Amino acid sequence: MSNPLILGIESSCDETAVALVRGDRTIVAQRIASQDAEHRPFGGVVPELAARAHVDRLTPMVAEVLGEAGVTLADVDAVAATAGPGLIGGVMVGLVTGKALAWGAGKPLLAINHLEGHALSPRLADASLQFPYLLLLVSGGHCQLLGVEGVGRYRRLATTIDDAIGEAFDKTAKILGLGFPGGPRVEQAAARGNARRFALPRPLLGSDEPHFSFAGLKSAVLRQWQALPDKTDTDRDDLAAAFQLAATDCLVDRTARAIAAFPQATALVVAGGVASNQAIRAALSGLATANGLPFVAPPLWLCTDNAAMIAWAGAERLTLSPAERLTLSPAERLTLSPAERFKLDLVDGLDAPARPRWPLDPGAEAVRGAGVRA
Ligand code: KG4
Ligand code: ZN
Repeated sequence: MSNPLILGIESSCDETAVALVRGDRTIVAQRIASQDAEHRPFGGVVPELAARAHVDRLTPMVAEVLGEAGVTLADVDAVAATAGPGLIGGVMVGLVTGKALAWGAGKPLLAINHLEGHALSPRLADASLQFPYLLLLVSGGHCQLLGVEGVGRYRRLATTIDDAIGEAFDKTAKILGLGFPGGPRVEQAAARGNARRFALPRPLLGSDEPHFSFAGLKSAVLRQWQALPDKTDTDRDDLAAAFQLAATDCLVDRTARAIAAFPQATALVVAGGVASNQAIRAALSGLATANGLPFVAPPLWLCTDNAAMIAWAGAERLTLSPAERLTLSPAERLTLSPAERFKLDLVDGLDAPARPRWPLDPGAEAVRGAGVRA
């Protein structure tokens, strides 16, 4: 299919989003409804409230997006819905909505991995970005380095052994009383602060192990904050700045290691909500330049959760050339890795499961540590 029109649906966390995207990268129409107001009183995302808000908003938003584009479901080539990983109630709302629309309109369903949406989003913004590239995926639930070798072909080079980096930003914001959502608030406070006033640990910096760790950093922020007698605005800004610098140093160090481990990369790419942080973008850009690699970061709205990246992941799948797809007998299929088999199963059945955990690279080894996300 050369220029498919895809309806994308995203509901895996606290953004309800719907988009219509074409294979030629045109974003025909889109809506993103944040639930910040619902979750702010609780200082974090409450899964049940998120799922209910998705139920209330999704159907009207689909109608709005189709209306704005002046099309109906009959004009759409496929419905792409996030099928995981994420908060399971919300994922189920979006996936079931996508299934109902696909079934009702007689269109194919594409059950999209949310992480794949983030991983391919830089190619929606930048047509010149070719495979393979090294991707640093930094969000509220994930902190991974991936070798992106092609559509459906992801090699996990590193992940976090405890907290995701976005989680560390959010918890730091909570400790410092900066409010919700945490990441942008910490960035604003850090811009005013003196990062050198507090000495904070940089977990796994220089380690032979490829992975990330942020739990010790977050605990150190808590200890330093509790030890401050007055807890002034300056204290708050300085500690936010020290945290952001330590976290950035860890990201740069681990990414430098991955550049050496994945020398075939043609670019260093960053995606996910934390990629909207300007200090982190600047540090990664410097690292890419020092290694002779182009640095690619999607526009800010495409870094945080949205449905255009989900529709785009669907478009990438539908526009794979026949040569890129595998044509094998059923017996031969059994010998394939899950990533390879994915290329045969371009379209999903209406029984596609909602998955709270869904690693992009099923072959990646488990890492030490508790609470590790997919
Ligand atoms: O990708 P995303 O929108 O949702 C997930 O899939 O998790 O990422 C949300 C995360 C949150 O932890 C949020 O605090 C963080 O991204 N974030 C930031 C910034 N903007 C969002 N972290 C640091 N600096 C920012 N400017
Ligand atoms: Zn996300």
